[in-house]
Amino acid sequence: MRVCVIGTGYVGLVTGVCLAHIGHHVICVDNNEEKVKLMQSGQSPIFEPGLSELMQEAIQSQHIEFTTDLGAGVAHGEILFIAVGTPPLPTGESDTRYVEAVARGIGEHLNGGYKVIVNKSTVPIGSGDWVRMLVLDGVAEQQKAAVGAGGSAVMDRSADFDVVSNPEFLREGSAVYDTFNPDRIVLGSNNSRAISLMKELYAPIVSREFAEDKSLPTVPVLVTDLSSAEMIKYAANAFLATKISFINEVANICDRVGADVTQVARGIGLDSRIGNKFLQAGIGWGGSCFPKDVSALIHTADDYGYDAQLLKSAVTVNQRQRVMAIEKLQQVLKILKGKTVGLLGLTFKPDTDDMRDAPALDIIEQLHRLGTKIKAYDPLVAQSGMRHGLSNVHVETDPERLADGCDALVLVTDWKEFRTLDYSKMAQLMANPVLIDGRNFLDQEALEKAGFRYMGIGRCG
Ligand code: UDX
Repeated sequence: MRVCVIGTGYVGLVTGVCLAHIGHHVICVDNNEEKVKLMQSGQSPIFEPGLSELMQEAIQSQHIEFTTDLGAGVAHGEILFIAVGTPPLPTGESDTRYVEAVARGIGEHLNGGYKVIVNKSTVPIGSGDWVRMLVLDGVAEQQKAAVGAGGSAVMDRSADFDVVSNPEFLREGSAVYDTFNPDRIVLGSNNSRAISLMKELYAPIVSREFAEDKSLPTVPVLVTDLSSAEMIKYAANAFLATKISFINEVANICDRVGADVTQVARGIGLDSRIGNKFLQAGIGWGGSCFPKDVSALIHTADDYGYDAQLLKSAVTVNQRQRVMAIEKLQQVLKILKGKTVGLLGLTFKPDTDDMRDAPALDIIEQLHRLGTKIKAYDPLVAQSGMRHGLSNVHVETDPERLADGCDALVLVTDWKEFRTLDYSKMAQLMANPVLIDGRNFLDQEALEKAGFRYMGIGRCG
């Protein structure tokens, strides 16, 4: 099928490349010329495992093209994905101005046959109808311009489109895997023609032709109305964020009563009604989705006169959790002024270079306020030379340099490679071998053997 994806951030680029890989013909549109040039040369502007390889393959087999020309993309696609960002405003609402511009732009270029316009961006509930209205506004603009230029105003077929909400559930760091191995596909629309085209588009994914485990039953496709599909995205993220805040709250109680949250999580996770995933206690959730989506849902509830107390508490617990590592440092080192603390990891989670709303940023701010000297090592931040929001931090190029002279280390991100560092050597290089494991990720016994004083989160102090 012919597909156009507008916006080449995490969601747009991964969607475009994966749809090209399963045999569709995709044009990705972005208004950033430099980024488009980079992608045309086969380079991915984001780090996502497996993405560059698939991207280069798709370019070679001519299944994907990149352009800044929205008109060309709209003319090409029978299915048009809107995948531009909806970043949070200071109020917690989503900033929908990019979606608005794209929807109008689509309308201004619509002509020819029937199109399905797919909302992939996480948009406030009710946006499907709003997008429809904006596209029609764009069509009206186009008609006005045509009449002005002496052309014909008869373009009835140009408005032949439907809007579908198709939320994504991709995790950063495994977005390609998640696209080919989804738990479900959600399609929100009351229009059967649009739904059947969407089912055709996703057929190779639904049949698990590209899945890691091809023997699994086909992927469930859930067809709902527009607003319910939009709500599913928010509810899923809010539930997962709340689940993490829940286990973090349990961890804080464990710390006080002398229980071990990792054992408690195992114990409750074996109950199939609870499930064992997303029960890893630590310094809390961050990233580009959870904080933004939970705030937006609280805001929507507020707009409709409902005080979403549980969600507000999930956010409060998460904010407190982020600085839990500092409380632990104070327990051990007492005064932090003049001490040196090394952060192992900076990104909000492993296998990504994303620092958006990362717990590390709050930890850095607090430590800086307390007069602590801050060093950090992160496998990807060191590699990409990224320094965003890190003006008070000395970024080291390897873990041993990080340890050198530190009064304590804090493990902030659970990068796999942190499990196999030479901790004995690092302990020797430190002024004071203390390690606060902010993700309960390391083996306490091994660390203590290596000479560290080890403290996790919710593991008996
Ligand atoms: C999330 C959702 O998982 C995904 O479905 C949605 O599309 C986008 O938001 P992502 O932000 O990439 O994906 O990261 P995820 O792996 O879900 O982790 C989010 C945060 O929660 C990270 O900061 C992670 O460290 C933290 N986390 C996760 C925990 O603290 N404990 C856990 O048990 C799991």
